[in-house]
Amino acid sequence: MAERTISEVLTQPDAALEMTLRPSLFSEFTGQAKVKERLEISVQAARQRGEALDHILLSGPPGLGKTTLASILAKAMGANFKTTSGPTIEKAGDLAGLLTNLEAGDVLFIDEIHRLQKTIEEYLYPAMEDFKLDIIIDQGPNARSVRLNLPRFTLIGATTRSGLLTAPLLTRFGMRERLDYYHTEQLQQIVTRSARLLNVETEAEGAYEIARRSRGTPRIANNLLRRVRDYAQVRHDGRITAAVADRALAMLEIDRNGLDEMDKRILETIIVKFAGGPVGVGSLAVAVGEEPDTIEEVYEPYLIMEGYLNRTPQGRVATELSYKKLGLKPAPGKQTSLL
Ligand SMILES: Nc1ncnc2c1ncn2[C@@H]1O[C@H](COP(=O)(O)OP(=O)(O)OP(=O)(O)O)[C@@H](O)[C@H]1O
Ligand SMILES: [Mg+2]
Repeated sequence: MAERTISEVLTQPDAALEMTLRPSLFSEFTGQAKVKERLEISVQAARQRGEALDHILLSGPPGLGKTTLASILAKAMGANFKTTSGPTIEKAGDLAGLLTNLEAGDVLFIDEIHRLQKTIEEYLYPAMEDFKLDIIIDQGPNARSVRLNLPRFTLIGATTRSGLLTAPLLTRFGMRERLDYYHTEQLQQIVTRSARLLNVETEAEGAYEIARRSRGTPRIANNLLRRVRDYAQVRHDGRITAAVADRALAMLEIDRNGLDEMDKRILETIIVKFAGGPVGVGSLAVAVGEEPDTIEEVYEPYLIMEGYLNRTPQGRVATELSYKKLGLKPAPGKQTSLL
């Protein structure tokens, strides 16, 4: 992408765009059918019993709809939706403040829950399990622990890295759901809906073209739609056809499979600098000039899913598809993995 890389689009979303396009009901949320069904059933069951929803953990790569689902869940429960994130809770007191201000049934959403400090995480255990909060008041010889009762609330945690969560925290979630990348047809539906909300005339083929180059990710699809809309307006009559979408996306250097410059740099580095791998994520990150976390959270999952990369215990390995993609040949005698 000329001005914004895929990782910027994913990690620094446009707040106004997300507000406009974020679905607020299950019926507007496309895809993730199994996850959606399980969540809808728990909402209905909890409502019938007049209880709070179980604690839920939503995991998956950025931009797939974790925050969206959490807000849909709160709305479907008719509950207040209070949001915070792991890194912004700095002291135990911050968490105590949040928890003691909850009302029965409220949804507390903790984004990036894997970045919660361990000392703070420990306060969450009894809060989640027994709806109790043990806080220490006073200092020195007068310090004593006080146990507060909390209302029955629902914690929804979101994480791009469920592997980094500790077992005690993981097991306190009654439901754990993982979101997967979307199929092109589902993204096409999302683009069509967004185009309607943004008042952009879009042909089905135009929406499809954007969808298939969106790395399976609604946030990217919405972002590309907006960029294509600009192009269609300035260079054409405003209507998004397949040809217009294709030209706009080529101009943004998004290739036909949705790979951007950094994706290709990663593959090329593994092949050329590291003889196809295996290479550890740390060395790879230094070589391409990107954060190891960003490689692991943003780039790698998609490259692995599409069959360009393999993750082995020794490190990342380029597959035959990567060589083909870049028009490179493996060194003589070098075995490439087929998938
Ligand atoms: N299933 C869906 N149907 C329609 N639009 C969706 C869907 N999932 C996500 N979106 C759109 O994509 C945007 C990004 O989704 P969301 O913010 O929920 O992702 P996220 O998983 O929370 O990402 P992050 O990990 O960066 O916090 C939303 O604003 C919404 O417009
Ligand atoms: Mg989010």
